[in-house]
Amino acid sequence: MFSLRLVSTLLLFFSQDQRVTPYSFEKCEVHEVLGNRTKVLCYNRNLKNVPSHLPGKVDALDLSNNKIRSLWRTDFRNLGHLQVLNISQNKIEHIEGGAFIHTSYLEFLNLTANRLTLLSSSMFDGLTNLTVLMLGNNQILKIEPYAFAHLEKLKVIDLSSNRLYTMNAMLAVFKVESLQELHIKDNDLQNFSTKQIISVPEQLRELDASHNPISLIDVTTSVLQSLSSLDLSFSIPNISIIWLIQDPCFLKGLKTLFLGGIAMKPPAISEVIQMINCTWLEAIHLNQLHLTETDGLIEQVCLRHGNVETLNLQHNLFTSVNEGAFENCTHLRYLNMAFNKLKVLPMTLFQSLHSLKLLSLANNKFTMVPNATSNMASLECLDLSFNKIYRILPDDFAHLNNLKSLYATGNRISRVHSNIFGDLHSLQELNLEINLLTEIDEPFPGSLKNLETLILRQNKLDSIKKDVFKNLTSLLVLNLADNQIAAIEPGAFEGLSNLQSLVLGSNKITKDTFQEGLFQGLSSLVELDLFNNYISYKSSKMLANPPFKLLKSLNKFNINSQRHNGLENFPVNFLEGLQSIVQIHAGNLAISFLDPKTFKYTPTLEELDLSDNSLNNVSNMLFWPVPNLRELHLNKNGLNSLSFVSHGNLSKLTLFRGAENQIDVITKEQIRALPALGFLDLRENTFACSCSNEMFLNWSLKDPKTQVLHFYQYICASPSTQKGQKLWTFETSSCIIDYGFILYITNTSAAILLMLICFIYQWRLHMIYSYHLLLAYFIDKREKRKERVMGYAYDAFLSYNTHNEEWVINDLLPVLENQYHWKLCLHHRDFEPGRSILENIVNNIYMSRKTICIISRHYLESEWCSKEIQVASFRLFDENKDVLILIFLEDIPSEYLSPYHRMRKLIRKKTYLKWPQDEKEVALFWQKLDMAMKTGEGKEEEHPILPRFASDEVP
Ligand SMILES: *[C@@H]1O[C@H](CO)[C@@H](O)[C@H](O)[C@H]1NC(C)=O
Ligand SMILES: *[C@@H]1O[C@H](CO)[C@@H](O)[C@H](O)[C@H]1NC(C)=O
Ligand SMILES: *[C@@H]1O[C@H](CO)[C@@H](O)[C@H](O)[C@H]1NC(C)=O
Ligand SMILES: *[C@@H]1O[C@H](CO)[C@@H](O)[C@H](O)[C@H]1NC(C)=O
Repeated sequence: MFSLRLVSTLLLFFSQDQRVTPYSFEKCEVHEVLGNRTKVLCYNRNLKNVPSHLPGKVDALDLSNNKIRSLWRTDFRNLGHLQVLNISQNKIEHIEGGAFIHTSYLEFLNLTANRLTLLSSSMFDGLTNLTVLMLGNNQILKIEPYAFAHLEKLKVIDLSSNRLYTMNAMLAVFKVESLQELHIKDNDLQNFSTKQIISVPEQLRELDASHNPISLIDVTTSVLQSLSSLDLSFSIPNISIIWLIQDPCFLKGLKTLFLGGIAMKPPAISEVIQMINCTWLEAIHLNQLHLTETDGLIEQVCLRHGNVETLNLQHNLFTSVNEGAFENCTHLRYLNMAFNKLKVLPMTLFQSLHSLKLLSLANNKFTMVPNATSNMASLECLDLSFNKIYRILPDDFAHLNNLKSLYATGNRISRVHSNIFGDLHSLQELNLEINLLTEIDEPFPGSLKNLETLILRQNKLDSIKKDVFKNLTSLLVLNLADNQIAAIEPGAFEGLSNLQSLVLGSNKITKDTFQEGLFQGLSSLVELDLFNNYISYKSSKMLANPPFKLLKSLNKFNINSQRHNGLENFPVNFLEGLQSIVQIHAGNLAISFLDPKTFKYTPTLEELDLSDNSLNNVSNMLFWPVPNLRELHLNKNGLNSLSFVSHGNLSKLTLFRGAENQIDVITKEQIRALPALGFLDLRENTFACSCSNEMFLNWSLKDPKTQVLHFYQYICASPSTQKGQKLWTFETSSCIIDYGFILYITNTSAAILLMLICFIYQWRLHMIYSYHLLLAYFIDKREKRKERVMGYAYDAFLSYNTHNEEWVINDLLPVLENQYHWKLCLHHRDFEPGRSILENIVNNIYMSRKTICIISRHYLESEWCSKEIQVASFRLFDENKDVLILIFLEDIPSEYLSPYHRMRKLIRKKTYLKWPQDEKEVALFWQKLDMAMKTGEGKEEEHPILPRFASDEVP
């Protein structure tokens, strides 16, 4: 075995431009965002350290979900441009002082979910531009007083879910003058006491101290007077909570107060709300407090804070609301009463709410639309989702002239009459998903002329009648997914001339649903979703009425499905008419064949997903008609080669995914056929770790433009000696005998240089090998000359592996030499002693008219034998003669042969014979072999007598 590091280094030296930064990083992906920002993603890669070789100009780096324990000063040394850094979900317990000293552009640092216990004074040095610092979910107990000194632009600190237990421990935080938002949720705070804070940043607006076991809320100084939002929800101490607000004006800036889930009874809450009387609160959150209508809390809140605009009463126990409860809340704009037990509401409940815009009554127990909701002229959004409403009466939505969104998801509505929408002139969005609609029997009325979105998902519709949507002239989105629609009357979508998106996924649509004129009127349709239906054809023959012929504006087409109701037969002109299509998703359909004319109809196609089909044989011309293709997904198709890319017109392809196939070799031609490729994903293929992948391997490691995603995880499937190894570790230096190299050293000056460098290195092995290479080359030249003059010494040079010697000696030799009288050259018998093996081989191959290779598994694995083939094939290429005869002793599965890519090529071109298993065919075999030996003998050369074997005989 040769070790050829030097030679290959030399080769690389000549062929590789050293300036470029390679892109395939062992553990990371590089993405360009908006053309000028570089985002590097290294999340979830089992990293124990910050990778050291990253491109210099990284703007955003994601190292989340790894196993990094420490951050060192040197880690970010070369990442001076970094603006966003996410190292969350690691095991960081130690950050060396000055670790971020080189990243002064950093604006966002996420250290969430690590194991920090202490924030030291020098930890964040240098982060002068940092605005957001996320430290949640650590075990921080202690913050040194100057931990955040010099963080002059810091606006947000998140210290949620740590172990801080006093305000005092957070002194360093309160010294950050630029701070606007502070999260200390879920720590061990027992006292929320302003006495412990000397000063608070003037800009501080939001303080989230929720989910702490606070038992004392003590506002006895004015430090918090500019705070506008205070969250004390879910304060749940073991003992009761004491509030000490010495002067209500100490909280005079307060606008938003969160008290949801706090361990206090309604009267106590009421008292607190009375106490805060120096300001009018704008938003009060009183969710999850077990409130009922008998508490009278709403009344008291409205009385004290009549200006309140947002009232959150979610997740309480209201079964109704007292008449007049909101009387004083005349400024209310957003009222959320979702997740209660409301059944009825007084008719006049909302009468005084002239500003109410949003009302949520979702997740209650209404069986009818409460009539308190009609007549609310200001209402813009009404949410009635997830009740038990089974009927909608004509007047239910009367006078809701400004209503823009109506949600009635998750009820029991089985019919909608067109008269219920009479006043909804402003309605833009109507959502009736998850109901029991079986039929739309009346067209939606003209009053819905502003409706843009209609969601009828997950109902029981089985058909769509003609003209039902004809008045919805503004409709942009129609979602009919998850129904049982099998029949759609032609003309059903008539009138929807502005519709952009039609979703018909998960229905019972079959090929028979596509009647002529079905999509009539959808002249603006941009997106059509037909996923999970039952469309299938008996053959891929031309359709008389291609279904999508009318959809001339369609951009996106989605027909992904489950295999069992797939499109095995994909009609040639299925896509006819989609002249604007950009994106087609047709995964998981069991498609087994696509006619090369399939995409003739879609010349504008840019993104195609055909993953998870059975396209193991993609025709060469398939992608020829789509020259703008940018993204191609062919994962999980059983592909065994990418040969189609060299023929298709894929010069614009930037992303190719072909994971989970049986691809073994990627050739130079294939790589060259994809000049714009930025990302290549070939995970989980059956790579051959052999010289046929040499180019792919070097290119993956070195190419500055293309990232081979997860390249360092690609595993060899063959040859058996390499099985299970990582492809990238394959030593390509043994691949040096290559035509390219031979050509290369033909250049005499380079050859001399090579020798010279070998001399300088004085490395014996390399010298010997280089010498042999040169020798092979010169012998090759010499022999060629000589041969023309001298004729041949042998009829055939025999190349075989010792494992097959028995067969050669017992079967082959007797027949060929004794019966047919051919003169053969065998290693052990005819090699001249004293000459080098290489010289002997080259010599004898040239002294023989033919070379016979006895191919078996052992043969393929033997290094020497393949060198013989190489020498023989110099001759073959050079002389264009039928020199090589291949005899296959056993069936060799093609994946086994594929590493010997060159041999595959040879097989396609050259004569090969198979040793028959059946006794009766043996005689015929010898005859064929004899005939093969005769070709090229004398004048017969011009008229080869041996017929070429049909290609399907290739093992
Ligand atoms: C990056 O490019 C976008 C648009 O191409 C531009 O708006 C933006 O200002 C650029 N940003 C920088 C940092 O150059
Ligand atoms: C910070 O990291 C946490 C944990 O990985 C993640 O959940 C959160 O979304 C991140 N924050 C931001 C703003 O990216
Ligand atoms: C901070 O960021 C601004 C732009 O966001 C930039 O102009 C400035 O140079 C940065 N400062 C430092 C010290 O990096
Ligand atoms: C505000 O509340 C305090 C304490 O409950 C009370 O003494 C004071 O009179 C109230 N002020 C107003 C204006 O209601």
